[in-house]
Amino acid sequence: MDNKCVLEFEAVGKEYSIGDRTLPVLRNITFCVRKGEFVTVMGPSGSGKSTMLQLMGCLDKPSSGKIYVDGVDVSKLCSDALAKVRSENIGFVFQAFNLLSNMSAIQNVEIAMAIDNVPAAERHERALDLLKKVGLTERADHKPNELSGGEKQRVAIARALANDPAFLLADEPTGNLDSKSGMEVMEIISGLSKNLGTTVVIVTHEPAVATYGKRTIMLGDGSIKSDGPTKRPAVHDLKLK
Ligand SMILES: Nc1ncnc2c1ncn2[C@@H]1O[C@H](COP(=O)(O)OP(=O)(O)OP(=O)(O)O)[C@@H](O)[C@H]1O
Ligand SMILES: [Mg+2]
Repeated sequence: MDNKCVLEFEAVGKEYSIGDRTLPVLRNITFCVRKGEFVTVMGPSGSGKSTMLQLMGCLDKPSSGKIYVDGVDVSKLCSDALAKVRSENIGFVFQAFNLLSNMSAIQNVEIAMAIDNVPAAERHERALDLLKKVGLTERADHKPNELSGGEKQRVAIARALANDPAFLLADEPTGNLDSKSGMEVMEIISGLSKNLGTTVVIVTHEPAVATYGKRTIMLGDGSIKSDGPTKRPAVHDLKLK
């Protein structure tokens, strides 16, 4: 791992307006994620974890402060420019999979690919290769309703990798899965981090998921409460759910 800061928040604040009220959700958030790091974000419900991940993933813009993705200040980019940064750098995995239900596994991966000058046959081959990486070669033609939860999340990971992103961001990727499928998904993400050097940030409620990472940022009430090495729970607490 080199020491380059590839994802940086500088005094970031985020507030939402509801009617004539403003609701502060994140306050003065400052941190840097270095290339190849595996970070987990934890904290109580409503503390701002998903909001923070969405800002990291250029899905939304901060109300104040600056966000740098690979050295580029993305805080003030227009939505087209943000979409470009997102498709070139970021793979996102959601708790509820968010697959297109009328498309097969392989089509869900293909459709996420930036299609600039890439022939359809090549996209198909690449999508097959990604499904192989997540152990789903045999399920390429299945639609989401013909897949288990764990398989759906593995398709979603393959889709997130479609454009060879530098960052993989996942919001409670095991939240809808049983313990065994959750561990399988985490093993795949952990393999990507180790073998491809992908920088990973995962939001989770589960200490067993957090132990796949090395560093935990703890949020509370919109602020960073702690940021340091992930605490290792006792072995008997390590089962998912
Ligand atoms: N689009 C929005 N408009 C208004 N308020 C919002 C919006 N999105 C989130 N919030 C509020 O911001 C706060 C933080 O929400 P967020 O989803 O980031 O929390 P979280 O830590 O991910 O919680 P959970 O663990 O339940 O997923 C909550 O109080 C929520 O109601
Ligand atoms: Mg959330």
